Amino acid sequence: MHATLSPDEIRDFNIRYHDAAAEHYDSKWAIGFGGPSQDQVHSKLSKALGAGPAGPNAYARALEIGAGTGYFTLNLLGAGVIEAATCTDISPGMLAALRANAASGGLDVETVVADAEHLPFADESFELVFGHAVLHHLPDVGQALAEMHRVLVPGGTLVFAGEPSRLGDSIARVPKRLATSVAPLWRSLLRARPLQRAGKHTEHAADCAPGVHLEGSVDVHAFTPGQLSELATEAGFESVHVRGEELLANWFGWTNRTLEATAEPADVPWLWRRYAYHGYLVLQALDRSLLEGRLPAGVFYNLMLSARKPER
Ligand SMILES: C[S@@+](CC[C@H](N)C(=O)[O-])C[C@H]1O[C@@H](n2cnc3c(N)ncnc32)[C@H](O)[C@@H]1O
Repeated sequence: MHATLSPDEIRDFNIRYHDAAAEHYDSKWAIGFGGPSQDQVHSKLSKALGAGPAGPNAYARALEIGAGTGYFTLNLLGAGVIEAATCTDISPGMLAALRANAASGGLDVETVVADAEHLPFADESFELVFGHAVLHHLPDVGQALAEMHRVLVPGGTLVFAGEPSRLGDSIARVPKRLATSVAPLWRSLLRARPLQRAGKHTEHAADCAPGVHLEGSVDVHAFTPGQLSELATEAGFESVHVRGEELLANWFGWTNRTLEATAEPADVPWLWRRYAYHGYLVLQALDRSLLEGRLPAGVFYNLMLSARKPER
């Protein structure tokens, strides 16, 4: 938890930060909604569940927490894994971007502005509750998981991916620092001007917003696998599993994103962006085949949590 901010301040900073981030969020994170992105999200869901790909319409009613611009929900709808989806987020700006993305893809989705700790839904409303890169923004993760437990049907599934691990997060500071120190050289090689906009993004939360100095205030946790597992168990879940994902891919990704964040976006060449995107995919495949499942979950940058609400 953040040492000096109250829970209300953390929520308020999250709204402002992510509202400001919404416009550039998809381009910064190379978020797409076509076949390759559907495969990415589908494979993350399967990995988190420790099972093969979920079949068509495996979940009739799905709820996403902190849905942002729709990366997970819209790709799962597109892949036909979920039948109907409700997307919640504390940021109205992110949900507006999500609706625009849904409209472009011809997808039907309900959006509700809601704090994860107070879900405005009846008990036992959903077969699947999920989220990506959101738990680390919540002041009271235990309260939020208790709410998710309440709105899941008995036997329902909980899945989170993309949560920063404590060790992985500190290891990732090395490539970020290195990239910051070589950024001037990198920009002169690419003939890119330094970023003119006020503010910059450098971090997991800088994941979100240009122009707002709120980074340190919105990323309030990095987890150990044991902590995530304990939080889910305390909220009443069973069959709790925490897995780790992406190590080499994250070092590569953070190096490139830190470099790119120092330059005017228009000056970063298309070829560089292709190299960064495809390099990331190659290393992600290496992580998957060589490291994941062999090394302890806590050394990876991203943690994935899956659990089940007990049957009655
Ligand atoms: C890092 S972004 C991830 C967005 C999206 N899930 C994705 O993967 O692209 C985190 C999201 O969590 C949302 N968020 C932060 N605090 C929240 C809260 N208390 N309740 C619900 N959503 C919250 C933010 O507004 C933001 O959209």
